[in-house]
Amino acid sequence: MKVIRIENPGPGYRLVLGETGRPDPGPGEILIKVAASGINRADLLQARGHYPPPPGASPILGLEVSGAVAEIGPDAAGYKIGDEVCALLTGGGYAEYALAHVSCVLPVPKHVTVMDAAALPEAHFTAWTNLMDAGRLQPGESVLVHGGASGIGTAAIQLLAALRHTVFATAGSEGKIKTCMELGARRAIDYRNEDFVAVIKEETQGRGVDVILDMVGGDYIQRNIEAAAVRGRIVNIAYQKGAEARVNFAPVIAKRLTLAATTLRARTTEEKAAIRDALADTVWPLIAERRIRPVIDGVYPLAEAIKAHERMAEGSHTGKILLIS
Ligand SMILES: NC(=O)c1ccc[n+]([C@@H]2O[C@H](COP(=O)([O-])OP(=O)(O)OC[C@H]3O[C@@H](n4cnc5c(N)ncnc54)[C@H](OP(=O)(O)O)[C@@H]3O)[C@@H](O)[C@H]2O)c1
Repeated sequence: MKVIRIENPGPGYRLVLGETGRPDPGPGEILIKVAASGINRADLLQARGHYPPPPGASPILGLEVSGAVAEIGPDAAGYKIGDEVCALLTGGGYAEYALAHVSCVLPVPKHVTVMDAAALPEAHFTAWTNLMDAGRLQPGESVLVHGGASGIGTAAIQLLAALRHTVFATAGSEGKIKTCMELGARRAIDYRNEDFVAVIKEETQGRGVDVILDMVGGDYIQRNIEAAAVRGRIVNIAYQKGAEARVNFAPVIAKRLTLAATTLRARTTEEKAAIRDALADTVWPLIAERRIRPVIDGVYPLAEAIKAHERMAEGSHTGKILLIS
């Protein structure tokens, strides 16, 4: 089968098309004939040599795919050959075929093409578990989503708006601000020329927001603490601006805040299955009702994976970037 290989891993890495054997599904796994795979920032880090796959994961890049079930392993109930599915992977998505554990597989939702469904798993697994599990979001609470125009951000804003939460978002260009508003943000904040703490205070009459989903870190760590309401929860999924900061924790104790941070990839199949079940119950019906849609920036042939990475590295994309087989 066709596969993308990393050549010269490190800052000057190359992605080249190669051939390898088609994998066999093991217990609890299905083999998917890939229609499309989603690009994630973690893939860029892995190709640069900073984010090794967890033990047992495929060394091939790619954390999510969509396509048709091609083979079914032992104890992998619930699917039949030809079913159109999308899946969260621990690796292996940049290929013609990919293995997925059934705990991480969902059907292609109604009104979504099999190709576009590759934009859904990573964004929605991440948004859901960080808002609902780590963020303990309650009905009626307000949320600030940093990186609102990112793959994760576009999923989070739509989910929150569909569940009738007040959503604020930050983004760094006029086009991205517009997208965040169209997706359901009450106010999108252009962090290049607005202070998000001041805007949040003004918009909430000084109260702050209940939950903050942050992928930025650095100086945002202190500023999130300032923008949080009493008993607020701040959840980091990345520290793109730096994982080290000088922090005044006095407001954390005064406001009884929770600071949390999580990763998805290394979680157990049981933990991932619980998120998959929540998505199937709540999010997939909202997608089928067209209240949430995949937001896709662009699509590249598998052989041009490096161009897709360059697009993400450059940073002006909105939503997800896909590779098609
Ligand atoms: N922990 C987990 O389980 C988990 C799972 C999935 C993803 N992630 C992480 O979540 C992040 C988003 O993933 P993605 O695939 O959605 O990536 P993405 O589409 O490339 O989004 C990254 C976003 O970060 C924003 N950003 C970057 N530097 C910034 C800065 N200095 N200040 C403010 N905003 C900044 C950019 O927005 P602007 O252009 O508007 O600045 C961009 O939209 C990535 O860092 C990824 O590694 C974590």
